[in-house]
Amino acid sequence: MKASAIIVAAGSGTRLGFDTPKAFVELNGRSLLSYSLRTIAAVPSIEEAVVTVPAGMESRARAEVKSAGLEIPVKLTPGGAERQDSVRIALGLTSAEAELIIVHDAARPFATPAMFEAAIAAAGRAGGAIAAIPLADTLKRVDHVRAIVATVARAALWQAQTPQAFRRDLLIRAHERAVTERIVATDDADLVEQLGASVEVVDGSALNFKVTTAEDLRLAELVVATRFGC
Ligand code: CTP
Ligand code: MG
Repeated sequence: MKASAIIVAAGSGTRLGFDTPKAFVELNGRSLLSYSLRTIAAVPSIEEAVVTVPAGMESRARAEVKSAGLEIPVKLTPGGAERQDSVRIALGLTSAEAELIIVHDAARPFATPAMFEAAIAAAGRAGGAIAAIPLADTLKRVDHVRAIVATVARAALWQAQTPQAFRRDLLIRAHERAVTERIVATDDADLVEQLGASVEVVDGSALNFKVTTAEDLRLAELVVATRFGC
């Protein structure tokens, strides 16, 4: 199935705390964004990409796209105020020919082509599919003084990641409804779930963590050093 990729990279990275917007912070000599661009370059069913970039970073982003060796058309656009706005803006720029849209955070440098392929294949069947991992730790609900009030059964709980793939018409409907009904969600799957459509999980990975804090960036540096022997 033909898919268009949306890479959201327009955030400022407040929690990371650098002057540079997070997607342009370097990890082993290249930007976080460049990892996701190179990954989608290795996914044959992705036929175009739309990347949301912070204001003023268009030419940096264009250079990143060039050096990633992407052979597909890539559009760059300023993002919106929140991630959800950025996805909606990018969605409006995707080709109407695309059957599926796969959305990915530039803040997750270690997603693999296999994760994209798995999400695309499952979304082609089910309508929507996201990378996720089953919870490994026991969950505790605590009160305001940090006393445990309950242990939450974790058997059926998974942590959502990106990439997240959906039938294009479903994702458009989900975002249109979010605007008219003022729904704010932390991921696209939630918006599609709220339409009553089915969304499946495919295997993500613990390594596919989101770089949010300075500690995450240090962890990412260790991952790169281990993977590439540098
Ligand atoms: N994002 C975006 N547009 C926004 C906000 C976020 O495109 N208005 C993107 C980010 O660039 C990132 C992804 O959405 O790749 C996930 O968001 P997050 O990890 O929260 O990144 P930031 O918003 O940049 O970080 P922070 O919340 O710490 O400011
Ligand atoms: Mg954010």
